[in-house]
Amino acid sequence: MTKAVILGTGSCLPERTLSNADLERIVETSDEWIASRTGIRNRRIAGPGEQNYQLATKAARRALAVTGIEPEELDLIVVATISSHMIMPSTACFVQAELGAVNAFAYDLSAACAGFTYGLDLASNYIQNRPEMKILVIGAETLSARINWEDRNTCVLFGDGAGAVIVTGANDGRGVFGSNLRADGKLWHLLCMDGPESCNPDLRQEEWQGSFIRMNGGDIFKHAVRSMEDSVTNLLRQHDLTIGDIDLMIPHQANIRILNNLRERLGIPEERVFVNLSQYGNTSAASIPIALDEAHRQGRMARGDIVLLCTFGGGLTWGSLLLRW
Ligand code: ACO
Repeated sequence: MTKAVILGTGSCLPERTLSNADLERIVETSDEWIASRTGIRNRRIAGPGEQNYQLATKAARRALAVTGIEPEELDLIVVATISSHMIMPSTACFVQAELGAVNAFAYDLSAACAGFTYGLDLASNYIQNRPEMKILVIGAETLSARINWEDRNTCVLFGDGAGAVIVTGANDGRGVFGSNLRADGKLWHLLCMDGPESCNPDLRQEEWQGSFIRMNGGDIFKHAVRSMEDSVTNLLRQHDLTIGDIDLMIPHQANIRILNNLRERLGIPEERVFVNLSQYGNTSAASIPIALDEAHRQGRMARGDIVLLCTFGGGLTWGSLLLRW
């Protein structure tokens, strides 16, 4: 049976590093507080020439270079993001133009931190109908532009970056073979970001607070751990697998305490969970494809390995996905 296989991966991180010590000069915080509560020590912050679409394009070029596929061969570009520099056109259209992917249609997908996993599932479903398609799936964020740098509850958590994969159909046993994706819009207020203030006075929100990320950290923590555990457990059960069958888990890189809690509940050993958040913080939709690219380049996945992605973010959105590498 045809499945969506990942032919190549790529990533791009901004040049500038913002350390916990740097943050001590911006808000009342400490390296000790941030590192012990989150596991984060550094994050990358975009600067000139590093707009969301520019990071996305560089990540895509790296993924294309690995596969030898030319931009004109791409059929579809999906960019998972919540931090486009423009509302219209989409980041995906900018990437399409930058790459010269003249035969691809292109659109953005908004599912916060779960965006890349939703996007890979989407690509997998296109492949069921048209196995020959070549699909570029990107997770890219410049959340530094959407952060209230006076709010120590949020500004220490997030970073910028992009990761990309090229997907096509194959019949050799590899590829995406299951997913469990969920959402709960009733809990939107736990993690949210307002749009720009409305130009139409009748449509203005009474309590518009600026286009910043707002978060109830404690509740998000609890929902993240429980939801990801639930999604992974159901997905494994559906496929008659146990956690012992997973060769590598690549979780959304939100917070080391969330990941440790999840790991303990699932009973998966530390060495089978990929973690790089100390250097990049939470890059939202970009976190899993960046981690996937690093894991790939570090040789953490052998052909035939079972890889588990799991994620959680604003929406609320969450889910998990299984693939054979
Ligand atoms: N530096 C110092 N103090 C801080 C900071 C900071 N950067 N941020 C908050 N505090 C203070 C608060 O003001 C509060 O002070 P108060 O008690 O005087 O009001 C206190 O620290 C809160 O302390 P704790 O309750 O012990 O903090 P907690 O252990 O809950 O950690 C944290 C807070 C890190 C936000 C935690 O709730 C968390 O990780 N939540 C998940 C958040 C997350 O990962 N969001 C990412 C988006 S969703 C996703 O990607 C999964």
